[in-house]
Amino acid sequence: MIQVGSTNQQAGGSRFVYIAAAISALGGMLFGYDTGVISSAILFIKKQFMLSSTMEEIVLSSVLIGAVIGAVIGGRLTDRFGRRKCIIATSIIFTVGALAGASMAQNVPWLIIGRIIIGVAIGIASFTVPLYISEVAPVKIRGKLVGFNQLAVTVGIVVSYLVGYALSRFAWGWRGMFACAAIPALILGLGMFHMPSSPRWLISRGFVDKAREVLKRIRGTDAIDDEVRDIQEGLKQQSGSLKELLSPLLKPALVVGIGLAISQQVTGINTVIYYAPIIFQFAGFKSVSSAILATVGVGVVNVLMTIVGLHLVDRVGRRPLLLIGLAGMSLSLIALGMAFNMSTQSHMLGWIAAISLMCYVAFFAIGMGPVFWLLISEIYPLRIRGAAMSVATFFNWGFNLVIGITFLTLIKILGRPETFWLYGGLSIGTWFFVYFLVPETKGRSLEEIEAHWQAGKHPRAMGKL
Ligand code: BGC
Repeated sequence: MIQVGSTNQQAGGSRFVYIAAAISALGGMLFGYDTGVISSAILFIKKQFMLSSTMEEIVLSSVLIGAVIGAVIGGRLTDRFGRRKCIIATSIIFTVGALAGASMAQNVPWLIIGRIIIGVAIGIASFTVPLYISEVAPVKIRGKLVGFNQLAVTVGIVVSYLVGYALSRFAWGWRGMFACAAIPALILGLGMFHMPSSPRWLISRGFVDKAREVLKRIRGTDAIDDEVRDIQEGLKQQSGSLKELLSPLLKPALVVGIGLAISQQVTGINTVIYYAPIIFQFAGFKSVSSAILATVGVGVVNVLMTIVGLHLVDRVGRRPLLLIGLAGMSLSLIALGMAFNMSTQSHMLGWIAAISLMCYVAFFAIGMGPVFWLLISEIYPLRIRGAAMSVATFFNWGFNLVIGITFLTLIKILGRPETFWLYGGLSIGTWFFVYFLVPETKGRSLEEIEAHWQAGKHPRAMGKL
């Protein structure tokens, strides 16, 4: 059995672990930047290549298709070759995709292939970065450190809006927008080259001495024996086969990961991230520039509230943030639907819609945004952690794609209020899912979480260990 309260629970951890988390989180920045930049770039690409609306949709969604592929292939790779090497590999794929792929494209298939390549890197980085951070972080600040990744995603989205705005005066601007992503990609690769491998992954592959060295360095102490022993004990109970996830003991973890992955998307966040200017125009912000300015406002609220979430996640815990966040998202979506239900003549419409949208993003940013990626980096057993996270990540990107391509059609078929109420209803459903099935992992070492599943206990009993 794993001992509760072992050494991994030291308060701060050394400064080094912050540096490792911040450097790897550049992968999150690329995730945010590369998914956000297309909304500005597409305006130029459409003209330059005279795209039909179907081709436009294909160009828009190609990065998401790549991300689905990356999520599928990445899992086994991170378990086999290690988290660090996979992050370095993604930085190379990002750089090649940004420079040789997207920014130099001379025709549409070239562009689509470039964007798919970038998507593959996003799909792998989106879960490998939280996985790496979670495995190097000390228990007490694990939530905050893993949250650096989500913070970087939100910063990447805002930077993409700003770069899009700054380069929009130039005809070649879209090439510059794609090429800019190579800068953080190169820093990520060079930075990770100097970072250590995950000590947990090293132990799972039998490199125990190397893992001890790394742990001493990242914990800033020689007292790492208990942590090493806990990791080794945990490994004895695992077969390393992905089939283990279907066993009755681990099924609850599988359900939590896939359930949260789907609900993070079907509660509608990316309709706002990808279509905010259009939503603001529906709400009566007539000029393109006021709609774009309001969109930058949404991005900034997303960043600021993510910082608030990171401050709270290790204090109040994962469940309260999810529950408060989902309650707020549901109410904001109901209000947004009501605003669209009002007469379009009313000047109140624009303001109520804008405030509801900001509140919605704020509640996402303290809960579902960071906590989904955090929980999936915590709840799976070490030997299959990468593969299990990739399953959840696959569902996340798959549903991201589905919501992205159905949003405008839903608005046409159901109407504006009803579409937002639908996402509101799904947020309420997710609240109950979280209330009944999602465990509290705050203050638990990854090995204690594994031991909890092995003991066949209910997820909700986890916070009460
Ligand atoms: C989600 C993305 C979303 C982003 C917005 C992430 O956690 O996975 O789909 O675009 O948050 O901040």
